Amino acid sequence: MDLFEYQARDIFAKHDVPVLAGEVIETPEAAREVTERLGGRAVVKAQVKTGGRGKAGGVKLASDPADAVEKAGQILGMDIKGHTVQRVMLAQTADIAEEYYVSFLLDRTNRTFLAMASVEGGVEIEEVAATKPEALAKIPVDAIEGVTEAKAREIAEAAKFPAELIDQIANVLIKLWDVFIKEDALLVEVNPLVKTGEGKVIALDGKVSLDENADFRQPDHEALEAADNQSGAAAELEAAAKAKGLNYVKLDGQVGIIGNGAGLVMSTLDVVAYAGEKHSNVKPANFLDIGGGASAEVMANGLEIILGDPDVKSVFVNVFGGITACDAVANGIVQAMELLKSKGEDVNKPLVVRLDGNNAELGRKILTDAAHPLVQQVDTMDGAADKAAELAAK
Ligand SMILES: Nc1ncnc2c1ncn2[C@@H]1O[C@H](COP(=O)(O)OP(=O)(O)O)[C@@H](O)[C@H]1O
Ligand SMILES: [Mg+2]
Repeated sequence: MDLFEYQARDIFAKHDVPVLAGEVIETPEAAREVTERLGGRAVVKAQVKTGGRGKAGGVKLASDPADAVEKAGQILGMDIKGHTVQRVMLAQTADIAEEYYVSFLLDRTNRTFLAMASVEGGVEIEEVAATKPEALAKIPVDAIEGVTEAKAREIAEAAKFPAELIDQIANVLIKLWDVFIKEDALLVEVNPLVKTGEGKVIALDGKVSLDENADFRQPDHEALEAADNQSGAAAELEAAAKAKGLNYVKLDGQVGIIGNGAGLVMSTLDVVAYAGEKHSNVKPANFLDIGGGASAEVMANGLEIILGDPDVKSVFVNVFGGITACDAVANGIVQAMELLKSKGEDVNKPLVVRLDGNNAELGRKILTDAAHPLVQQVDTMDGAADKAAELAAK
């Protein structure tokens, strides 16, 4: 999971990477007091999980507290590459003499970790890599040895940092490696790492991506994930699904999809897209795999997410009963509809259900007996896809 810049800043501070003071706010007015606390001036920075904020107008210098209120007002609510700005960070201003780039990442191709560094930072590093590859040093880092003093110097020298900065840069690299290892990160990037007018080296912008597989041994990371308030339609639905432990990806069509097993859901997307060609070109609205144990609760959670998507016009529930038999899934659907109704959810979109596999007969009977007005059954996958597409096109 990618972190917001302010979260990366906090983690850097925790591991003694030199950073500037910064505070996060959500309303323009709050900028006044914070700017005073920061010494009367501040840089106002959009907190969105995408790069190039500076270019998009999401990083602005405020010369006094009133100016900070105004700049925060301009940046809050701004859309940067599909991400609505909900928070801004006010940071102390740096007197920048030079801008550099450093990062650690997992290099899957070479099955090792990689350090990258360049004295040409500030700009997008992809551009440096493409137009001036010799300006970007790439040094493999052994997973067992890590970044020792010698390794840190090797990186700094390969990137041709000025001789008088090597000590400071090496120190920052060792601390950033600490962040990378101790926080179980997949990426730690600083762009720009700056030299100030006084010759101090400071991390001005940080990008950290955490390895979620390590969440079990990183209890502090839960709070970082909980702060993920990204908005924009897709981000919100995906966040809600994630909170419910569902494997959900928002797509841009109109037919909601629920299935059990990633492979089945993938092929369901294909047959729905194909069927949609005959029905005003409707397409799948999402990927949602409810996995093995499709209990009523899991089914209700899945339906709640999908029905909450305003783009969805019909829903296709495609289940192949295996370990979880179809009668359990059918009961899940019936109970899920009740559950949603009792929660006051406005359930008004048609559901097409296809049950096959283990105990399919019994499952179908349960749905037939329940006779829910919005639920209809089609016994084949292609037939059900066609029906769902037809209903979505209406
Ligand atoms: N605290 C700061 N003080 C002074 N200038 C800053 C500060 N933070 C960022 N900047 C300037 O703004 C540029 C863009 O900010 P950055 O945080 O790197 O955002 P992004 O990479 O998303 O554009 C930096 O390269 C730097 O020149
Ligand atoms: Mg940057």
